[in-house]
This record gives sequence, structure tokens and C-alpha cells, in this order.
Amino acid sequence: MKPLDHLFRPIDIGTMEVRNRIMMAPLSTHWAPDDGHVTQQLIDFYEARAAGGVGLIVCEGASPDCDHPYWKRSLGLWSDDVVPSFRRLADAVHAHGAKLAVQLLHPGPDAHSHLKGLRPIGPSAIRCKTNGQISRELAADEIGRIVALFGEAARRAREAGCDAIHLHAAHAYGLLASFLSPLRNKRADAYGGSMEGRMKLVVDVMASMHERAGRDFPIIVRLSADEIVAGGQDLREVEMLAPLLVAAGASALEVSAGALPELDGRVIPYTGTALGLNSRLAAAIKAVVDVPVIVVGRINTPQIAGDILARGQADMVSMARALLADPAWPLKASRSTTTAFTVSPRRSSRAAITQTS
Ligand SMILES: Cc1cc2nc3c(=O)[nH]c(=O)nc-3n(C[C@H](O)[C@H](O)[C@H](O)COP(=O)(O)O)c2cc1C
Repeated sequence: MKPLDHLFRPIDIGTMEVRNRIMMAPLSTHWAPDDGHVTQQLIDFYEARAAGGVGLIVCEGASPDCDHPYWKRSLGLWSDDVVPSFRRLADAVHAHGAKLAVQLLHPGPDAHSHLKGLRPIGPSAIRCKTNGQISRELAADEIGRIVALFGEAARRAREAGCDAIHLHAAHAYGLLASFLSPLRNKRADAYGGSMEGRMKLVVDVMASMHERAGRDFPIIVRLSADEIVAGGQDLREVEMLAPLLVAAGASALEVSAGALPELDGRVIPYTGTALGLNSRLAAAIKAVVDVPVIVVGRINTPQIAGDILARGQADMVSMARALLADPAWPLKASRSTTTAFTVSPRRSSRAAITQTS
């Protein structure tokens, strides 16, 4: 099999069957109104990528907490009122045979909550360099409310016809990653200290999502396999963490690296850094888990994408800017393989891929 052919093999993520191994990584457009619902502009944006042949679309970060939106004009899965708009998005993506996951991103300490007259919340009171504010340490008895918000958001995603949740827990950014990271989590209670303590919020959140949305609703967890900042999570720790997250119900792991804001040029790698720069980290995580591992970070040519899969470093590739630049990247890539496919323009909820050779 040629390396490029690997891209167009189907893959199962839990109960979700994806037609190929190309995922669109979350890309915040800030095209949502402040009430969090999906606009027609967003539907058109994602539908173009589905028509362009991508297997799985992860739509941009949606906060589960209306008190703490991700940022201005961002999605929110905090109310049943938004469900019909997410359903229109899911229908549009499904009509082209692609699958849709919603990214749940609680901004935590990185929130711009002052927009609502609130202080950002986090594991500990820390000055957050992304917004210049000091976060408020969540009291132990407040954590249950946050956990329940994630569960309700997952239920809404499923009711809207979305296929999976993509859980943001990477880059020492946002609430979940801030609990995971020793850079930000200075707690002495059950949600801090050891790795098991720092991961407890993520585990509780996944249990809540399973309870409200069903155990069979896939959860993809986005992680930094190495924060690459002194005192942060390193690969050694994440190699121990990854199997525990799988045991707690993760259906797949997406591997990124770096921490914000120190390494913003690593999280969204600068032009000029190596292509596929996280693939070795992904291979290390793949060696310790038995669920699909997805890798993100400067994957923008069919050759590098196919090579990563052919080498067995990851099971799926995730791309943000390549698909922003060219919605038809997958269809164009498929033209140079032996298993090229076309996407039927027919609007149907069934997967509409035709093998052309
Ligand atoms: C404009 C823009 C918006 C982004 N928004 C999000 C987001 O909402 N959630 C997230 O986890 N990552 C977000 N990212 C990071 C991407 O998902 C991805 O990890 C990063 O861009 C590296 O992939 P790439 O080299 O394929 O672009 C964003 C990146 C860009 C460029």
C-alpha cells in the first residue's frame, strides 16, 4: 500500500465510523453570536470542508458554561436553546458523508470573564498570562457544578445529532488542562498534587458525559504529550496518564504539544518548524494505549500525512490551517492515491463516498 492510501482507509473511534483518517482540528472563527448558537456562516464554513472530503470535523471550542464563554462570539453548549442550530450543522456535515465532533472547551483561568463581570476560575489563584487576570480557585463544592455542566453539554451534542465530543485538555490552557498541569494546579485536595489528583477533574467530567450522553458516545481527548516547559507535564508523565484516560472512557487521544502562552509557536507551529513535528510524541503515546491516536501540528501536505500513518506513528492526522486554506484538501490528496474517492454532492444523511479506483 502506498503511504497516501493509508489516509483513505476508514477508521472506528469507539462507535463512530469515519470514512477516512483526516480530521479537521478545531479552529475558532468567532463567527458565533454571543448566545453561543451556530450561525449559517459557520454551517457554510464546515459544510464546505465536509464536501471537500474530510472524514471528521471537530468544530471550534464551545464552552459548557454560560458564565464563562470561551471568548467573544464563540460557541456555547450551555442551553437547550442552541440545540436546533447544532442539529442544522450536524445535518449539513452528514449530508456529505463526514462526521461531526463538538469541541468542549471551558476557558477556566484563560477566560475573558470580565466581559460578564466575573473572575476567571481555575484550580488555583494564579496570574494568567493569556489574559493578565488572577483566577479564582474553585472551591471543592463548586467542582460538582462544573462537572454537571460538561455532562449536560454532551447530552445536548448528542441530541443535536453530533457524533462525538472532543474534549480540550491540552496546552496548559483552559480549565481541564489547567487542572492537569503542575504549572497551574497548586491544590492540596483530591483535585491536585499527584498526577491522579490533577487528572481527577477530567475523569469526573468524562463520567458525567457518559452518564448524560450515553457510555457509547465517543470522547476524543486532546492532550499535550509534552508541555515542553520546565515544571510542566512531560512525556514520561503523559505516557502514564494516557492509559488511565482510556480506562476512564476516552475513545481516542489527539496528541499535541506545548503550553500557552510560553510556547504559542509550538501549539500553533510557526511556519518554518518541521512538518508533522508531533509525530514522534504521538508514536510514544500510541505505544501505551489501545485506542486510536490522532496527531496534530503542521501536517499540511499529503506526503507528510501519509508517511505518518504508513510509519504507524498515529492512526489519524488532524489539520487546522491546511483545511482552513483549502476545504478540498482531502479530495485533491486522494487524486494521487490508488484509492481516490469522490464525495457525492447528493444531500443525504448516508455516507456518500464512491471509490473511483
Ligand atoms: C485561527 C485558529 C483557531 C484555533 N482555534 C482552536 C480552538 O478553538 N480549539 C483548539 O483546541 N485549538 C484551536 N486551534 C489550534 C488548532 O486546532 C491546531 O492544534 C493548531 O493550529 C496546529 O495545527 P495546524 O498546524 O494543522 O494548524 C486554533 C488554531 C488557529 C490557527
